[in-house]
Amino acid sequence: MPKVRVALAGVGNCASALIQGTVKYSESSSDTVGLLSYSLGGITPKDIEFVSAFDVDSRKVGRDLSEAIFSGMNNTPRFQEVPSMGVKVKRGPLLDGVGKYLKEVIPLSGDPEADVVKELKDSGADMLVNYLPVGSTRAVQAYATSALNAGVAFINAMPVFIASDPSWAEKFKDKGLPVAGDDVMSQIGATVLHKTLVKLLHDRGAKVEETYQLNIGGDTDFLNMLEESRLADKRESKTSAVRAMTPYPVPTRIGPSDYVGFLKNDKVCYIWIKGRYFGNTPVTIEAKLHVVDAPDSGGVMIDAIRGTKIALQRGVAGELVSLSSYCFKHPPQQLPYDEAKERFLEFVEGRRER
Ligand SMILES: NC(=O)c1ccc[n+]([C@@H]2O[C@H](COP(=O)([O-])OP(=O)(O)OC[C@H]3O[C@@H](n4cnc5c(N)ncnc54)[C@H](O)[C@@H]3O)[C@@H](O)[C@H]2O)c1
Repeated sequence: MPKVRVALAGVGNCASALIQGTVKYSESSSDTVGLLSYSLGGITPKDIEFVSAFDVDSRKVGRDLSEAIFSGMNNTPRFQEVPSMGVKVKRGPLLDGVGKYLKEVIPLSGDPEADVVKELKDSGADMLVNYLPVGSTRAVQAYATSALNAGVAFINAMPVFIASDPSWAEKFKDKGLPVAGDDVMSQIGATVLHKTLVKLLHDRGAKVEETYQLNIGGDTDFLNMLEESRLADKRESKTSAVRAMTPYPVPTRIGPSDYVGFLKNDKVCYIWIKGRYFGNTPVTIEAKLHVVDAPDSGGVMIDAIRGTKIALQRGVAGELVSLSSYCFKHPPQQLPYDEAKERFLEFVEGRRER
């Protein structure tokens, strides 16, 4: 099996969890907690190699990726030692990557900006995974354009719409490249729990009347999301996933709600649903979810990376529909979780084109 060569834009908590998990699961095939399966389409975590990375934080740029993932403001737990990777983090283009609140805590690297296209080509990357902060619209579009110009696939883990925007998907199709996204849906996260609860009420004949989802956390993702003007796409991404579970509109409010520093990378989510069932009888559901945020996305991203490699091997270009429905909150096509998983596995097995 040829290696899956991955480049990263943004070496924050998610990149840390992804790399730690990839190393962990490369070492042993007996402990596979959190992976859909050890081998997907013949690709195992051992086949994934990180070949290039970009950031703007002076505490990460210039360092080996194995050290950068534990540097700066990164505060997700260290669950795996990572040996030196021989990949130095390059200074990426800043544009709107660092907002009002992140400016206070991220010292910018003075290194010259890397030529992202050249770096992607020279490293032999198959794909670029985008982990930039919420609201980095221009920066994300710049990295997506570099992926197009370098001839690599693009996986968008955050909510600036690329795979789900038909004009961007078309650009990737024209270049013969796959694109997946947008905004990774964590394994046991707020979105999958909320959409599944709403669907349960609907499937059981109840009427959902109102719902909200409040989220708090203590990492730079939550600090950045205090800036409401950067949040429109994040709210839309999370809301659209729940909205798609009922055929009628439900008053809904979903989004990041506050930054609580001492929570570090822990995330606490409160879901509230009000509805009616037989005899117009009222029901409310209140759920509290407490997770560590970054590892919650790591296993899903390993699946997205493997699915994207399969698409590259088969010459599938443009938006990866089933993969995105399964792995992301704001895909080109919203589906209930079980249907998305079934279609993604059909794609992996070659029984579905995309
Ligand atoms: N479970 C999850 O944690 C989860 C789920 C869904 C989506 N996401 C999204 O994934 C993204 C990454 O999350 P995270 O927790 O790793 O965030 P993070 O804040 O820990 O990391 C972001 C990194 O991007 C860097 N950066 C900022 N501007 C840049 C630029 N122009 N070029 C290169 N690097 C730049 C920062 O210095 C930082 O290292 C966020 O947008 C988040 O909302 C995360």
